[in-house]
Amino acid sequence: MSTNSMSTGLKRFFFWSLFILFVIDAYFVYTSGTENDPSQSFLTEGAKNGKLLFQEHNCISCHQLYGLGGYMGPDLTNVMSAPGKGEIYVKTLIQNGTQRMPNLHLPESDVKALTEYLNYVDKTGISPVRNFEINLDGTITQKDVR
Ligand code: HEC
Repeated sequence: MSTNSMSTGLKRFFFWSLFILFVIDAYFVYTSGTENDPSQSFLTEGAKNGKLLFQEHNCISCHQLYGLGGYMGPDLTNVMSAPGKGEIYVKTLIQNGTQRMPNLHLPESDVKALTEYLNYVDKTGISPVRNFEINLDGTITQKDVR
């Protein structure tokens, strides 16, 4: 046996140590790592209801979500967090319509549900997609800072 090779006992020790670490790691990855606290979810009951209303009134025929939809009205993905817009602005528009957007005469509860749905959309997506440039050193620079 050459002097610089590991003894079989040491090899077994490393093998089983790594194996046990792997099992412990896998346990955490597939248990606590996948836990999802439903109270943290933005898809509240109101938001689910709002999603159905959004479909029922065919808002998507004029508006886009995540960049997809009709082009008569603006993309609504981030309307809830856009500077100068937000909940009161959105409610006012849905309740009154404009010269180009119909007033659907929705009850207050429906308007609230729609804003909850739009809040969920806002928290889960960005549209239009941000434009990044990859630098020579591998870092990225955001071109259109919003
Ligand atoms: C017939 C097309 C049409 C339909 C249907 C429509 N909208 Fe609109 N909406 C518009 C237009 C056009 C605007 C832009 C305001 C304007 O130019 O008068 C707008 C504006 C908005 C805005 C403000 C967006 C911003 O960024 O300023 C919100 C919020 C909105 N609509 C929500 C809705 C919701 C929710 C529905 C469905 C219940 C809906 N709209 C249905 C055409 C429509």
